[in-house]
Amino acid sequence: MRFIFLFLLFFSFSHAKTAYESGKILYMQKGCYSCHGTKLEGVHKYPYLANRAKGYMIYKLKQFRSKISDNQQQEMMIPFAVDLSDDDIENLATYINEFVAQESSEKYDDSYQIHGDGGS
Ligand code: HEC
Repeated sequence: MRFIFLFLLFFSFSHAKTAYESGKILYMQKGCYSCHGTKLEGVHKYPYLANRAKGYMIYKLKQFRSKISDNQQQEMMIPFAVDLSDDDIENLATYINEFVAQESSEKYDDSYQIHGDGGS
């Protein structure tokens, strides 16, 4: 019995996504990108989110989930936050906070180097 339990535990961990990946999926699934941009850069009057402080993002999303907004503009966020779980909010905030570091490390791979003198 214990062996099976350990096996299942290992199996579920090995398939678990990172908070960043889960946040990224949620961000796309929930349509956050349509207002905040696919690169979290913000669109028109919708604020950019990339690299914003995680604690503040969590605070704001929990406020919106509780239907609390500071102004009329923010009320737009409430329907997008009401059905988020604590985990969802944590994952989204991780995605937002780590976006720039993660995406740029994918683009600029340090292990890739051009050899030679550049030809000049
Ligand atoms: C229909 C457009 C729209 C969508 C979709 C949307 N947002 Fe927003 N979001 C806004 C607006 C408007 C504000 C408030 C801007 C302001 O304070 O002036 C806001 C504010 C926020 C803030 C607080 C930023 C701050 O500066 O205080 C966070 C965090 C946020 N949104 C995350 C999300 C996430 C995560 C999703 C997807 C679940 C999402 N938003 C979907 C329009 C949208």
